[in-house]
Amino acid sequence: MTVEPVGFRPGLEGVPATQSAISNIDGQRGVLSYRGYRIDELAAHSSFLETAYLLIWGELPDPERLRNFQHSVQMHRRVSFRIRDMLKCFPAGGHPMDALQASAASLGLFYSNRALDDPEYISGAVVRLLAKIPTMLAAFQLIRRGQDPIQPRDDLPYASNFLYMLTEREPDPLAARIFDACLVLHAEHTLNASTFSARVTASTLTDPYAVVASAVGTLAGPLHGGANEDVLAMLEEIGSEDRVEAYLDGAIKEKRKVMGFGHREYRVKDPRATILQQLAETLFDRFGHDQMYDVARRLESVAADRLGPKGIYPNVDFYSGLVYRKLGIPTDLFTPVFAIARAAGWLAHWKEQLGANRIYRPTQIYTGYAERQWLPPESRSSDNGSPTG
Ligand code: SDX
Repeated sequence: MTVEPVGFRPGLEGVPATQSAISNIDGQRGVLSYRGYRIDELAAHSSFLETAYLLIWGELPDPERLRNFQHSVQMHRRVSFRIRDMLKCFPAGGHPMDALQASAASLGLFYSNRALDDPEYISGAVVRLLAKIPTMLAAFQLIRRGQDPIQPRDDLPYASNFLYMLTEREPDPLAARIFDACLVLHAEHTLNASTFSARVTASTLTDPYAVVASAVGTLAGPLHGGANEDVLAMLEEIGSEDRVEAYLDGAIKEKRKVMGFGHREYRVKDPRATILQQLAETLFDRFGHDQMYDVARRLESVAADRLGPKGIYPNVDFYSGLVYRKLGIPTDLFTPVFAIARAAGWLAHWKEQLGANRIYRPTQIYTGYAERQWLPPESRSSDNGSPTG
């Protein structure tokens, strides 16, 4: 069968690349839903693991299913001493996203019996990845500080346990609840770059650890999940409210992107940014103000005049860094924390992709030379395009 190529759209803007029933964005109204449930409702009432279950299996679990799921994740939190030894070999100065990508991929070495048509294999891999990613990340954090990783605490829920493994202190219940809500907010977002990457990798019928590792690598970039780190750097660079206008005018004039602003799908403020802003305020009321929040709010307000007419408003990354900083999470762990949450969405898309798989193999519009004849080196022109001349 010959398929006629469709017109080229840079970044595949507006091109449907899959059918999916997992989440939906109404970019005009600023509404995000997972399996039909609005994100504000889930952030207020659900937990991350319940939301992960919803995303992956399509329905909210009844109490027994939820208990079993939580228990299974809890039982699989520990990682082999070999993984801890591997993490100890990583350079302490390396970025934790690289450590996370490598350690997620390494799980494929430990659990290599790929059986993609076995539902137990699927649910086992889901549980293992959700359970072990936070442990590996927290272990890397302690190891790079010269400490030994600490074991997960079986009595602590998912979010609290991660904060505990990271800081070696049991978190305040409000802080843990807010962190859990952050995980809910970041768990899924239709066919973003890392999820697309996950689906492409899944479509080759490779193992789920490779699927998640490829998605982690894609999330790391500053145009995607990596923007949450850059937002904080930008706010620090601005420094104070009175410098916001000059910064923004300079950025617009020099055509620099304002980090944490803009989105392919939303023409209004990202609903997750609205909720994260509320969570930030709750944290500041309880644990003390962050002056960078005043800078952020001023930037949002000035940008509404300058960028708003183009449909450019704060996205999920704009306020998340301020929340994570208040929770005591180091800046270079912001994107890995995003990955902990997004693993739920990636796994939901992995499972959905397997349910109706066809390998992704788009076409291209060739812009290179027509056929040319090979010449021996001495007959080639000196203008050969090589940087070494
Ligand atoms: C995430 O897609 C997802 O779902 C991702 C995500 C998720 O949950 O997975 O929501 C998470 O990745 C959020 C995005 C984090 N990135 C940033 O905050 C980086 C800054 N933002 C951008 O670079 C940009 O807005 C993107 C990457 C988010 C979207 O890129 P697009 O859709 O390709 O848009 P574009 O770069 O082509 O910009 C279109 C226009 C341009 O102006 P013109 O040349 O048409 O005049 O909008 C302008 C851009 O210059 N623009 C911005 C801007 N974002 C877009 N101008 C200033 N600052 C910005 N942030």
